[in-house]
Amino acid sequence: MRTQVAIIGAGPSGLLLGQLLLKEGISNVVLERQSGEHVLSRIRAGIIETGTVELLDAAGVSGRLHRESLIHDGIEIAFGGTRHRVNFRELIGRAVVVYGQTEITRDLMAGREAAGGTTVYQAQDVRLHGIDGPHPRVTYRSDGIERSIECDFIAGCDGFRGVSRACVPQSALTCYERIYPFGWLGIMVDKPPVSDELIYVSHERGFALCSMRSRERSRFYLQCNLEERVENWSDERFYEELASRLDPDTAAHLQSGHSIEKSIAPLRSFVAEPMRYGRTFLVGDAAHIVPPTGAKGLNLAASDVYYLWQGLVTHYRQGSENGLEDYSRRALARVWKAERFSWSMTSLLHRFPESSGFDRRIQQADLEYLLTSRAALASLAENYVGLPL
Ligand code: FAD
Ligand code: PHB
Repeated sequence: MRTQVAIIGAGPSGLLLGQLLLKEGISNVVLERQSGEHVLSRIRAGIIETGTVELLDAAGVSGRLHRESLIHDGIEIAFGGTRHRVNFRELIGRAVVVYGQTEITRDLMAGREAAGGTTVYQAQDVRLHGIDGPHPRVTYRSDGIERSIECDFIAGCDGFRGVSRACVPQSALTCYERIYPFGWLGIMVDKPPVSDELIYVSHERGFALCSMRSRERSRFYLQCNLEERVENWSDERFYEELASRLDPDTAAHLQSGHSIEKSIAPLRSFVAEPMRYGRTFLVGDAAHIVPPTGAKGLNLAASDVYYLWQGLVTHYRQGSENGLEDYSRRALARVWKAERFSWSMTSLLHRFPESSGFDRRIQQADLEYLLTSRAALASLAENYVGLPL
């Protein structure tokens, strides 16, 4: 088989890139290790920047998003038993959109099918060959048969544990990493949210987040130890712990119900530089991870896609390498700002096991300053809604 761009991974970054390229008449094949149902069963991000929505518009897959998503003009930060509103609309005139990653993936899958794009699910043993030369190739096994794809470029959209970054020689990459001493225990439940907007909670017992997917579906998170096991958390125990981290009024609005998903995600910051090696480009989680506190992971994947899409279109339309040459620099400039924001939100709102009394007082002062300074609130708002592409 031959195609212009071989895309590894059918998560949001691989499917979005594939769709944008198909719109420009640039052929591509997506290879995904898992089944389509498995990809859709992973519950992940929920907050979408308007820049990401515009990219989904450009890909022609945003119809349902515009009908079903919720627009949020702000968030709340609960601290010391009081909820404080951060009004994005008033501070900077912008908002964010609530629409699940699962739904975006579903819309992208449908768009790809309608456009006649080729996706190979359950592609086993995907391998990259000749990635520093002019004729890269990807091999894989499907239905027990070895297959090979010749291509001009490879887009490594295969997440943090994918094969693409692992194929780049270690000496060609510099990796930066911070592992946090806690994770997030999350549940999804078909009950109305506790409030109209998200509530980020800083509490002595640890961070909590009341989020949502719709007016009928809530998503809750609790900071937990890395040793915690999902099996040890009955729904009752989860709600009890969540209620203990909320102020009484908010806790009174908590409607407990049977969880439809429950999982633990460790928190990590990670960046691999550069995001290009020869004719292979690393995109999204394959190149970088952020802790979820700033709601940036999926949105960063989308901005990488934007830069790579532009670079590939410039290559095929104008025969110019400038966009591809500049991909890593442009993407990383935005990545590091989102890394900084996600790290700062994580540091501000979580309880760190090793923190001293001094550290906790500084954290408290940071929160008090934030919530009383219009300049600090505007800075948070500007980063949360998404920096320009
Ligand atoms: P992924 O979504 O990881 O997709 C990569 C795809 O590549 C997967 O489908 C995978 O199966 C496939 N793949 C992997 N290896 C191979 C291989 N060898 N061959 C072929 N295919 C392969 N972000 C937020 O903003 N908010 C959140 O609440 C949030 N929660 C998260 C919870 C978890 C548990 C995780 C892991 C991430 C979370 N994120 C969250 C981050 C966000 O979901 C990611 O940033 C986003 O999914 C990145 O998209 P991606 O397409 O780059 O990677
Ligand atoms: C979510 O709804 O899953 C979510 C929302 C905001 C975050 C992280 C996760 O910061």
